[in-house]
Amino acid sequence: MPPRPPSPFAGVRLHVVTGKGGTGKTTVSGALATALAAGGRRVLVMEVEGRQGLAQLFDTPPLPYEERRVAAAPDGGEVWALAVDAEGALLEYLDLFYKMGRAGRALDRMGAVDFATTVAPGLRDVLLTGKAYEAVRRNRGGRRTYDAVVLDAPPTGRIQRFLNVNAEVAGLARVGPVRNQADTIMKLLHSGQTAVHLVTLLEEMPVQETVDAIEGLTSVGLPVGAIVVNMVRRPPLRPTDLTAAGKGRIDPDVVSDGLRAAGLPAGGATVTALLDEASDLAQRWALEKRERKVVAGLDRPTYELDWLPDGVQRGGLFDLGMMLREQGVA
Ligand SMILES: Nc1ncnc2c1ncn2[C@@H]1O[C@H](COP(=O)(O)OP(=O)(O)O)[C@@H](O)[C@H]1O
Ligand SMILES: [Mg+2]
Repeated sequence: MPPRPPSPFAGVRLHVVTGKGGTGKTTVSGALATALAAGGRRVLVMEVEGRQGLAQLFDTPPLPYEERRVAAAPDGGEVWALAVDAEGALLEYLDLFYKMGRAGRALDRMGAVDFATTVAPGLRDVLLTGKAYEAVRRNRGGRRTYDAVVLDAPPTGRIQRFLNVNAEVAGLARVGPVRNQADTIMKLLHSGQTAVHLVTLLEEMPVQETVDAIEGLTSVGLPVGAIVVNMVRRPPLRPTDLTAAGKGRIDPDVVSDGLRAAGLPAGGATVTALLDEASDLAQRWALEKRERKVVAGLDRPTYELDWLPDGVQRGGLFDLGMMLREQGVA
């Protein structure tokens, strides 16, 4: 195996993963967590969208608002997972800052928590990012509890607002503990200890969203990390054959000879179907090439993850983690 390149993210403690919906944010968050945990580190991966995507990914029962060890990684590494919800985070916050555990629970019964988080949606994001902040900073016996935290974040359309905690809080609190907390979270988010990674596919829409997100994040001073190109399909044909297929220049006789030599049906309909498929592949390949160029033009560390034809089972997740690791993400 060639030596791994050094990671550009060695100093990063908070990895935020975003991307267009359905591009694989949750999957990549899990894979990144396993990659970061290899080598004996302890990593927390957390989700904030209430979908229980992590439990499904790691094949564990639904996660309560409580950190759970979900996987082991090479050399004693550990992956922990947490599903955060704003209500739980608010109660925890009140508990911590006002020592009002019982009162907090009473508040919950009254639906006051719902009220607070619905009326002030900005507060919701402060609480969720605040939980990530708390996990990054937490110590136990003079040692950091987690070497890194991976945040499976909202999609690109909402990421800037989600992370721009200060702006969200400005209208809520100009002074006081909420304001102070927002300021401390912002300091972490804008520091070299945070990286916002973007997951994309080699398709026009997700790539365009990636381009826009990078522009938006950069404009508010949030640190853009890597681009993860997910679900990359390796074409079953060589580039020269793909080029020929795209131009309709594959000789049908050569195809039927090949089929016959392999002991397969070699009738006209089969050959035509295969040539059609090759032409589709060629078109797709050309599109992907164009999108790859756009991604390369963004000039960010870029990692590719194969499309797993059998889906992302637990084993597949670790394969994806290995792919990230081999490409030097951790
Ligand atoms: N590399 C991959 N190969 C095959 N299937 C994948 C891959 N990455 C993600 N998927 C599948 O795509 C779907 C969407 O992924 P998910 O991580 O839930 O996306 P998101 O969190 O962005 O909505 C899931 O069914 C997941 O198993
Ligand atoms: Mg998801």
